[in-house]
Order: sequence, then C-alpha cells, then structure tokens
Amino acid sequence: VPLTRLLRPAEEHLPEYVAALARGFEPSNWNGKEVARAHLAAIEADPAAFLAGLDDPEGRGPPVVLPDGSRRPRLPGYTRWIWDRGFCGVIHFRWQPGTTALPPHVLGHSGYVIAPWRRGEGHATRALGLLLAEVAPLGLPFIEVTTDAANLASIRVVERNGGVLVERFTRLPAHGGGEALRWRLVPKAPSAA
Ligand SMILES: CC(C)(COP(=O)(O)OP(=O)(O)OC[C@H]1O[C@@H](n2cnc3c(N)ncnc32)[C@H](O)[C@@H]1OP(=O)(O)O)[C@@H](O)C(=O)NCCC(=O)NCCS
Repeated sequence: VPLTRLLRPAEEHLPEYVAALARGFEPSNWNGKEVARAHLAAIEADPAAFLAGLDDPEGRGPPVVLPDGSRRPRLPGYTRWIWDRGFCGVIHFRWQPGTTALPPHVLGHSGYVIAPWRRGEGHATRALGLLLAEVAPLGLPFIEVTTDAANLASIRVVERNGGVLVERFTRLPAHGGGEALRWRLVPKAPSAA
C-alpha cells in the first residue's frame, strides 16, 4: 500500500537525498543537472544552510536566476520531499501572500519532479493532493500550475486533482519557449480519489 508523505527537508533524510542526486535525480524541470550539482556542492559546504534554504516561507533567499540568466526577487516558498519508504521526488510551492497573482516570470505556484525510478506509482498525483491540503490555510481561492502541452503524465496529475484548464499559451523565450497549459486547482483537503 503506497503511503506518500510530504516531508519538510531535514537532516535525518539528507543522506537519502544525496544518494538520489548521485543516482541522477534532477530536482528541477529546467537545468536539472546543474541544479543537482549545485545542491551536492551546497550540502557539502553547509548542510544546515542548504536545508534552511529549502524552507523559505518569507522569501529571504537569494534572487531567482531565469533561463535567460536574468535575476528576480525570490517569492516566499518551500520545497517538500515526497517520501514513501524512501525518497520519491520533490514538490515546490511559492506564492505572493494574500493574492493568487504571480509575477510574470513565475509560471505557476507549484512544480514537481519524481525520481525516474519511482515514477508510475501515483506519487505525483498524491503529492499534489497533499500540497493542496497543506496550502489550504493560506486562504488562496485557487493556485496555478503550468504544464508542457505535451507532458501527458503531468496533465493527468493535475486533472486527477481537479485541475481546470485556464489557457493554452506559448512560453516566452526567457521561460524556455514551447507550448504550455495553465491550470487552476483549488486548495482543499484531499478527496477519496
Ligand atoms: C510528470 C511526473 C511528475 C509524474 O510522476 P508520477 O509519480 O510518475 O505520476 P503518477 O504515478 O501520479 O501518474 C500520473 C498519471 O500519469 C500517467 N502517466 C504516467 N506516465 C505517463 C506517460 N509517460 N504518458 C502518459 N501518461 C503517463 C499515469 O498512468 C497516471 O494516470 P492515471 O492516474 O490515469 O493512471 C513525472 O513523470 C516526472 O517527474 N516527470 C519529469 C518532470 C515533470 O515533467 N514534472 C512536471 C512539471 S509540471
């Protein structure tokens, strides 16, 4: 029986995260290999600071670097490790307090990646449901997620969590280009699905 949980990244689970990176896990949907290398270096330099940086609900972290190299202020946000008898992947959430609006350079409130060796077990579907429950107290009437128009697995993850399609659009070159879909999801406790 799968028991997907979202963990606030903590020292006790760090060795398994390092092992996943060493095995080829890419924690980001763009520039994943470089992000993985940067994470390994940061963990080696100062594990506590690395963990603190993953949980930043006040947006104190350094600026975000966009695919075109430009920089923007960091929003409040955090990462949760998706766990089920071991590391399965990551899910991120960022927001602007008190509004559903996001700055133009932020393509959605949430993104997620499952380690290739843990895909197809339902973890992304359950992780997004758990995240919707976790963020419900923020009071946002909806959150947005952007998927690639061709990313059938991610589209399914969104649909299984009640996602409603808002629009199809072409990403700006600064966001990596390509056809994309914008979805809305309602934060709430998970249903029986
Ligand atoms: C997209 C991703 C997160 C899905 O993770 P996952 O844990 O394997 O997803 P789930 O097991 O919850 O499966 C979700 C649904 O997609 C379906 N699915 C899985 N892989 C698929 C594929 N390659 N093509 C079509 N459908 C697929 C599953 O059958 C399931 O559908 P169902 O509920 O109708 O059975 C994972 O493939 C991934 O990390 N991809 C790379 C990063 C990425 O694209 N992230 C999303 C960015 S928005």
